[in-house]
Amino acid sequence: MTTATSRATTTGAVGTAHSRVEGRDKVTGAARYAGEIPFAGLAHGRLVLSTVARGRIVSVESGPVLDMPGVLAVLHHGNAPRLETGYVGMLGVPPDPTAAVFQDDRVPHAGWPVALVVAETSEQAREAAEALTVTYERAPHDIAFSAGRSDARPADGHMPASTEKGDLDAELAASAHVVDEEYVTPEEHHAMMEPHAATALWDGGRLEVVDSNQGTTWVADELVRMFSLDASAVRVRSDHVGGGFGSKGLRAHQVSAVMAATELRRPVRVVLTRRQMFSLTGYRSPTAQRVRLGAGPDGRLRALDHRSLNQTSTVWEFVEPAAGVGRTLYDAPAHRTENQVVRLNVPSPTWMRAPGEAPGSFAMEAALDELAERCGVDPIELRLRNEPELGPVSGLPFAGRNLAACFREGARRFGWAGRDPRPGVRREGHLLLGTGTAAASFPAGAMPSTAAVTAEADGTFTVRISAADIGTGARTALALVAADALRVPAGRVRVHIGDSDFGPAMIAGGSMGTRSWAWAVTAAAGELRDRLVPGGTVPPEGITVRSDTTAAVGALAQKERHSYGAQFAEVAVDVATGEVRVRRMLGIFAAGRIVNPLTARSQLIGGMTWGISMALHEEAVRDSASGDLYGGDLASYHVASHADVPAVEADWVDDHDPDDPVGIKGIGEVGIVGAAAAVANAVWHATGVRHRRLPIRPDRVLEAGGPRV
Ligand code: MOS
Repeated sequence: MTTATSRATTTGAVGTAHSRVEGRDKVTGAARYAGEIPFAGLAHGRLVLSTVARGRIVSVESGPVLDMPGVLAVLHHGNAPRLETGYVGMLGVPPDPTAAVFQDDRVPHAGWPVALVVAETSEQAREAAEALTVTYERAPHDIAFSAGRSDARPADGHMPASTEKGDLDAELAASAHVVDEEYVTPEEHHAMMEPHAATALWDGGRLEVVDSNQGTTWVADELVRMFSLDASAVRVRSDHVGGGFGSKGLRAHQVSAVMAATELRRPVRVVLTRRQMFSLTGYRSPTAQRVRLGAGPDGRLRALDHRSLNQTSTVWEFVEPAAGVGRTLYDAPAHRTENQVVRLNVPSPTWMRAPGEAPGSFAMEAALDELAERCGVDPIELRLRNEPELGPVSGLPFAGRNLAACFREGARRFGWAGRDPRPGVRREGHLLLGTGTAAASFPAGAMPSTAAVTAEADGTFTVRISAADIGTGARTALALVAADALRVPAGRVRVHIGDSDFGPAMIAGGSMGTRSWAWAVTAAAGELRDRLVPGGTVPPEGITVRSDTTAAVGALAQKERHSYGAQFAEVAVDVATGEVRVRRMLGIFAAGRIVNPLTARSQLIGGMTWGISMALHEEAVRDSASGDLYGGDLASYHVASHADVPAVEADWVDDHDPDDPVGIKGIGEVGIVGAAAAVANAVWHATGVRHRRLPIRPDRVLEAGGPRV
């Protein structure tokens, strides 16, 4: 940590624990979420989804439904307005046609939106939607995801599909130890607490959408393009958001609500049901990964080969870039990585917390554990021996790589020293005990943003930025950042977010939100402080300074810039029932300067908890006959519950991004990375059985056999 930052940390608001500025509103219910904000004259839309997995819509029998009580309209491909979809949006991708609803008669997967029924009340809309008869011409569907499909092909997504250097065959042949295994992760869903919900209305010639999303300017921009509107004619607001995890961008609910509000000339709300979310809002694709590692006798890598396959829909390509993890974490003279996709009659997957890194780190960090076993080298020592000097693929220097520090501090606190590496030997009654570890890394980037900071006449300050607080504590973090830049106590700063009228800003995504927004807020606040005359007066309208970090962010030095972490887990495996229980977890992270230790710890623990869930619980299973999920609901899709999550501790080592005005890197996603591998590696240490397919369910533990107690 630089001395400048150390001083700021000890004297300023950044680095000290603050409860959420909106915390009281949230616990008292004063904070309203998108689906519960009242509007005069509100009508309610309910989506109708396809019951077939592939085919064409033959008819939508609106007539009888329009005669039902309260029903105002039925929108479908036969009467909906045409949308513009031939554009590339803010995130560099075309829109998912799942959101561009009712444009044609094709049905590419089960749960595809085919109609919206609008009524005076949500109950009437539901009743009518359930009564709507839609007939289909069915076609055969293919949802069979598996490794080795002949129609799999390399795909780029947000990074090049393939990287390759060196002679893989030669290095593998010359390796003293080789691991060559396949790892499988299932379809997983975001399952955030708050369902997607939006209300659309026209107000004085402007379209206003009150939504729950990860970026108001992102959603506004998509609506502007899709409905061919003037940019100034669309305003999107999103105040409190009950989780996003990558799923809360433009979806069918906003688009269908806008269509209906335009048609009916009154406010229309569309709220997705939990079941609808399972096919309309993206998910993490299953992956089938093959990892080949070759090492010398000392465990130093000579060969690294990682290939990953994921599924996407037939209408939109999403690459879950699991093979990307080795591109920054581990080097080898022969190094090859490739991401592939196969198109199936399934819903479109999307970004989900640590897209690529979460499943990719499971495979890579489990494979490294297998290599450590074969080399007879401690898993932490193996990783330390394989610390690269430069980016393995990029050749660029690292902008701070504190992975080794995470492992050293983690090992000390977890009590790793003296660990008996032998598997299957620690017994406690009918339980087998084991410990495991894994590395984590996630890119630390920044994106251009704009902000406005106002000095008010009463001595307070107001920050306006179209940031999104999806439960992370972003609003609070920005208050602390602004306070330090203004050199005033945080209590004198109020922060307004979630309004596209505040101008373009990064979304809450890619672990880049807080950093990108803090940069813009710091720039505006710093300039404002310079402008304020000590002892001078502020006019009634205040003094406002605006910032735009496009140039500054664009000039960011090209380096390998990442957050890091070391994950540790201890498990107890019941060999009679096959149940795996995590007893404790520790994550030590190097994730740049920590703005608010209170919410940062919570964010990291949340990621680790999700890692437990990924390792042991989460799995959405598709029925080959219907093409739909068995139980697309939270009764059947098991996420870790309170009783599954024991003592989870997250902490960090000093870290600082030297090129960031505040020193931030990002903590949104690194917490889940490696967490499932640490648990899986602990299960091996407990039982001597490798589980290369997630989740590690009791039946799989029993079937795999292993020692009996
Ligand atoms: Mo996240 S998957 O970058 O919202």
